Amino acid sequence: MSMVKKALLPAAGLGTRFLPATKASPKEMLPIVDKPMIQYAVEEAEACGINEFIIITGRHKRTLEDHFDTVYELEENLKQKGKKQLLEEINRLSHLNFAYVRQGRPLGLGHAILRAKPFVKDEPFAVLLSDDVIDPDDNLLQDMIKLYEELDCPVVALEEVPREEIHRYGVIQGEADGDGVYRITDFVEKPEPEQAPSNLAIIGRYILTPDIFRILERMRPGRGGEYQLTDALKGLLKKRSVYGYVFRGRRYDAGDKFGFLKATVSFALKSPIVADRFRDYIISVARELQNRNKGK
Ligand code: G1P
Repeated sequence: MSMVKKALLPAAGLGTRFLPATKASPKEMLPIVDKPMIQYAVEEAEACGINEFIIITGRHKRTLEDHFDTVYELEENLKQKGKKQLLEEINRLSHLNFAYVRQGRPLGLGHAILRAKPFVKDEPFAVLLSDDVIDPDDNLLQDMIKLYEELDCPVVALEEVPREEIHRYGVIQGEADGDGVYRITDFVEKPEPEQAPSNLAIIGRYILTPDIFRILERMRPGRGGEYQLTDALKGLLKKRSVYGYVFRGRRYDAGDKFGFLKATVSFALKSPIVADRFRDYIISVARELQNRNKGK
């Protein structure tokens, strides 16, 4: 059985990239086909045997708590109407435990993670940034947990990104140590393209160990005046090895409008409920666009 049993899901951000939709409702609740974005992250972790979730929330985020709670009236209603499948669907995650902690002020990812310290205690834990949506068939977290168990070192997920996008990510410098595995030698949060040590960007999945909290507690604000998890990981390098795992599967930056649309189209094309009709629709739209372009 896996040693990683807990997952932190930071969800206190303001969602400014998705305004106006996120003005009064959390970005994490935006639905991709028929499930809110955050549920994909929870299901991804659950598939790896994680059963305790600590969600770091903020103001206007109460619907997150409601979403993972039991809704007694709805259950009764579905039971009475004989809607067994829907009932199963809404109860699918009811065996999991959820705890919520508020970040209070949006002081960065490192600050958010530190808020969860009392819940984590002395165990390794996963961090999932739910706006990085990973295709469930690509098993990223599973592979990271395996690597963590093999090396007994923290592991961060990496992706090769084009130079012009590097300023949006934490970036690593490292030495290759096996296929798609890097022993990390440096971390930089959101560098200018000419200062980036590589094109290997950190994406929103981490397997961390509780020694990161000691570093987070002593940290000063970094890029953007925020407490950066990337800076804490750089500090951790002085004490132990940290590894990167290059993900070559499908990831969608669903906190961004275009990335969200890509996730929606890809997931809809896999959804047993709408896939066939949606595929026909997409083909008809593509044909119409082609004809329109020919006519120009
Ligand atoms: C955060 C991290 C950054 C990482 C990114 C992945 O940035 O600070 O290092 O590359 O997530 O999505 P954010 O997207 O919250 O600005």
